[in-house]
Amino acid sequence: MSPAIDLPLPAPATLPLPSRQRFARPQGVPASPGEPVHVRDGRTLHLRPIVPGDVAAMRRCFARLPAEDVRRRFLHPMSELPEPMAQRMCRIDPACEAAFVLMDETRAPAEMRGVGRIYVDEASDSAEFSVLVERDWSRLGLGALLMGHLLDECRRRSLAELWGYVLIENRPMLEFCRRLGFTTRLIADEPGTAQVSLRL
Ligand SMILES: CC(C)(COP(=O)(O)OP(=O)(O)OC[C@H]1O[C@@H](n2cnc3c(N)ncnc32)[C@H](O)[C@@H]1OP(=O)(O)O)[C@@H](O)C(=O)NCCC(=O)NCCS
Repeated sequence: MSPAIDLPLPAPATLPLPSRQRFARPQGVPASPGEPVHVRDGRTLHLRPIVPGDVAAMRRCFARLPAEDVRRRFLHPMSELPEPMAQRMCRIDPACEAAFVLMDETRAPAEMRGVGRIYVDEASDSAEFSVLVERDWSRLGLGALLMGHLLDECRRRSLAELWGYVLIENRPMLEFCRRLGFTTRLIADEPGTAQVSLRL
């Protein structure tokens, strides 16, 4: 009888997973892992695409915002971010939307510190943007970082223009846009509001 050969058994981790596990995305895990952002004051955030599981963090972020920033972001006062609206904002349609979040993962649960998003308007070959950075994290280049990702996304989609509405009292945002090369024009039928736009 030939001697028995000790064949090494494959380590469990090398066994292929069933396809339903290989391709399934566990709930709450982002579609893309994103990237760390080393903020110039020494803190670290995590930049990634928004996911449906971000609703609670988005609502907590909204609750921390001063009324002025809520009005500047949404162009009118809002006392709370209703859950259905937050769900709609976190469950994007990738065909016509993109949104990136800056997450503070030093907190449990992780806190949202910034959001940038675009809505594509295919008819005009353009996208409308919005951007928000929490005050405690402002003037650190994070708004510009989010805008850079939105611009990359617009170029990836071969869009011709990125534009947004800004209250004319929102001097920081107008300065922010001016520095990025946007042009500003007042909107005749929306007193107090300007449209900023950048040809791509
Ligand atoms: C506007 C906003 C997004 C800027 O975000 P931010 O992370 O502070 O921006 P950055 O640090 O990238 O700043 C980039 C440049 O914008 C300009 N800027 C930003 N905040 C400014 C301020 N308070 N005053 C003057 N200029 C300002 C500056 O030129 C700045 O560059 P600098 O810091 O080197 O001088 C943020 O203040 C915000 O979320 N505001 C409330 C929401 C809002 O107004 N959204 C816009 C409507 S969609």
